[in-house]
Amino acid sequence: MITTEITIPLLSLTTPRVLRTCKSYPLAKEDELSTLFIASYPKSGTTWMQWIIFTLLSLDNPELSDKFTHISHFTPFYEIEKTWVFPLDESEESVGSLNSTISDNHHKLGYHVFNTHLPYNWLPKDEKTGSMKYIYLVRNSKDVAVSFYHHLTNQIDDNQYSGEGGFSQFLQDFLDGKIVYGKWLYHLSYWLPFYEENELHEESSGDKNPILLVQYEKLLSHPFEEVRKIINFLELKNIPDERLQEEVLPRLSFDYMKQNLSHFSPISVPWKAGFEFIRKGKVNDHTGCFTKEDYNLHEQSMIRDLVALSNRDISEISDIRVNDLVNDMIWLNQFKTCIGLSDLE
Ligand code: A3P
Repeated sequence: MITTEITIPLLSLTTPRVLRTCKSYPLAKEDELSTLFIASYPKSGTTWMQWIIFTLLSLDNPELSDKFTHISHFTPFYEIEKTWVFPLDESEESVGSLNSTISDNHHKLGYHVFNTHLPYNWLPKDEKTGSMKYIYLVRNSKDVAVSFYHHLTNQIDDNQYSGEGGFSQFLQDFLDGKIVYGKWLYHLSYWLPFYEENELHEESSGDKNPILLVQYEKLLSHPFEEVRKIINFLELKNIPDERLQEEVLPRLSFDYMKQNLSHFSPISVPWKAGFEFIRKGKVNDHTGCFTKEDYNLHEQSMIRDLVALSNRDISEISDIRVNDLVNDMIWLNQFKTCIGLSDLE
């Protein structure tokens, strides 16, 4: 188990009072709805998963779909100011309550659903009653880097990423953990060991693992099987295979989302003309972008992070095969290919 203190660069919208609210989760005291967190490192297909969840939960409620204008009204970003309302006589301990439009929508949906990039440890837990669930999405780190670069260099806001130095400079910053939410591999380490721990607990106690892992690449190549897993995880009884195939899957496709872009582009910041948030949706998109030097930089940085996470000494590095490092970390096993190291392929 990784126990190091976590420090990660956060968005300016994630103020201390918001973080306090996120950790204390005032909703737990307020109502009977279950809660689902869609968690990920940025650019791993979060919006896609938000849309999948909305589609599944609203399937028997056509009125909801008809009035739908933006995904963030139903599955908001957990750790930003706009999601919460704070008391006027605020003190250092006060926490926010859920924005009333979101709260109404959650009640119509029958679920509190949030998207988040926070570590598992920072989120509320309610494992005993099974009323709190988490879906953690993982996507290949190189494709994440490319997608993130396009995202940040097309966003217009006060803390804008300058983009000076082009993609290679961005990659260096991304690998050094200087970009918001820090290092990709560390982010995995804030989630996957807890998944493993819960799996063991499920085996010994029968308590269901509250975390479901989903890989972007598999969702793209095997949508039927992967969405079926999500349906089972949420214990939705109203979606037999035929309905999934004919009614649900066509709405989840990249083309469908691209045609309905205004429902999905984040509204908290303006975007440069011509940029489409639902951009390419491809596996291995990095191949057209990474130079030979970028591949080397990525490889060396991932190895350094693997060494650090395995608690080995960096001086041992020349004696350690990357495969051995990864094998040490059981939690990483099913996402080996996402690290994108040649040694592992
Ligand atoms: P690209 O920039 O590589 O195209 P997030 O929502 O976490 O910010 O992730 C955004 C990425 O998910 C973008 O990747 C976007 O195109 C991709 N995406 C969104 N909807 C998708 C879909 N239905 N199928 C495949 N990829 C999708």
